[in-house]
Amino acid sequence: MSISINIERLMVRIFALGKIGALPNGGCKRLALSEEDKAGRTLVTGWLHELGLEVHSDVIGNTWAIRPNRYGSTEHPVVMGSHIDTVGTGGLYDGNLGVLGGIEVIESMIEVGVETERPVAVAFFTNEEGARFQPDMMGSGVAQGALDLAEMLASVGIDGISVSDALDAINAGGDEPVGALKPSSYLELHIEQGPVLETQAIDIGVVTGVQGISWSEFTITGQACHAGTTPMPMRHDSGVVAAGIALEAWAIAQEFGAPQVATVGRMRFEPDLVNVVPEEARMTVDLRNTSEDTLRKAEARLFAKAEALSDVQGCTIKRQSLARFEPVAFDSDLVESIAQSASELGYTSLKMPSGAGHDAQMFAPQCPSAMIFVPSRDGISHNIHEYTAPDQIAKGVALLAKVVVSQAGTEQTQTQRVSVTDQGDKS
Ligand code: GLV
Ligand code: MN
Ligand code: MN
Repeated sequence: MSISINIERLMVRIFALGKIGALPNGGCKRLALSEEDKAGRTLVTGWLHELGLEVHSDVIGNTWAIRPNRYGSTEHPVVMGSHIDTVGTGGLYDGNLGVLGGIEVIESMIEVGVETERPVAVAFFTNEEGARFQPDMMGSGVAQGALDLAEMLASVGIDGISVSDALDAINAGGDEPVGALKPSSYLELHIEQGPVLETQAIDIGVVTGVQGISWSEFTITGQACHAGTTPMPMRHDSGVVAAGIALEAWAIAQEFGAPQVATVGRMRFEPDLVNVVPEEARMTVDLRNTSEDTLRKAEARLFAKAEALSDVQGCTIKRQSLARFEPVAFDSDLVESIAQSASELGYTSLKMPSGAGHDAQMFAPQCPSAMIFVPSRDGISHNIHEYTAPDQIAKGVALLAKVVVSQAGTEQTQTQRVSVTDQGDKS
């Protein structure tokens, strides 16, 4: 019995979903729980219904469908998951590939009638990106008990709307309680979003874990005054403090060296006028490292410097943590099994940590979890030019299918032995 991935069918779905929230120059903007997200959810759940699967959603809008096992049970499925929300300048592949690739795996299994010992599910989780509401990985974090439901429902987005109101506005919240989806194992196919695989011409990244993430928002308050008349020693310039924090974040990353990274993604001044010293500056800093110890050192240095810069300017400063996740290691047996399966399919692979956050990290403490990466052209993501070629995607999905089938288990007879190919030909 041979499962053949139909890459054309998958690409049609990727492009169809990418049309929802399409941006004028390519890519798309489908922020979590927006009208575009609603349309994306409708399209994807429609495909799940077409496969004859029951679709379930929990109170925070996480959505899944389970193909029962050979005995008709849907308990403890092997779950393939990711997200269909995007950042404001997103591409067609980040998250979407893991969900639509999962649907392709299930459709290919249905086509050949492969029966499994464990059920197999595909899922998408609410607000993985954290671009509209913080923190990121919100839905999967709530589902796995790492984030508190009430706190997350109260989280107010960059547009002033709460998660709770946004869920109601698009009617995304379902009847299932938090934690209703209980995977036996969790697998996530994703684009790498960095340059490693492409640079080394490698087919597959076998992801060993995800680095720690620390997001802070600083609000610095000084005094608005006239840009022409106020002598420099009399100023309390919140903008200068913000600029100093940005440079310190950069310096920390330079001095600590890789894998330390630091990003100032948002900075806003009030009143934001050419001839007024800014009264208030608001900014975010994203720090990440694979080592929790080093990440803590980076945070301590940044936070101390922020206070010192603020004191010098006679400003006040407040810091709010927007997200904080420790580094996560994936299940070593599952990681090995992915590497072994890649080699059996004739694909080159490399074990590597993930620089980006993923829903898989929320499942890792609860069940064996791991991820498969495929290359990203020019290492670019969170950018409308994000791209992975269909033949590279086909390898990732075929590998996902192989690992899922082996996790789910089939009757080990000659006739039931299942092989997987990345070719569309079903003969
Ligand atoms: C999610 O995409 C993140 O890593 O920021
Ligand atoms: Mn993603
Ligand atoms: Mn992303």
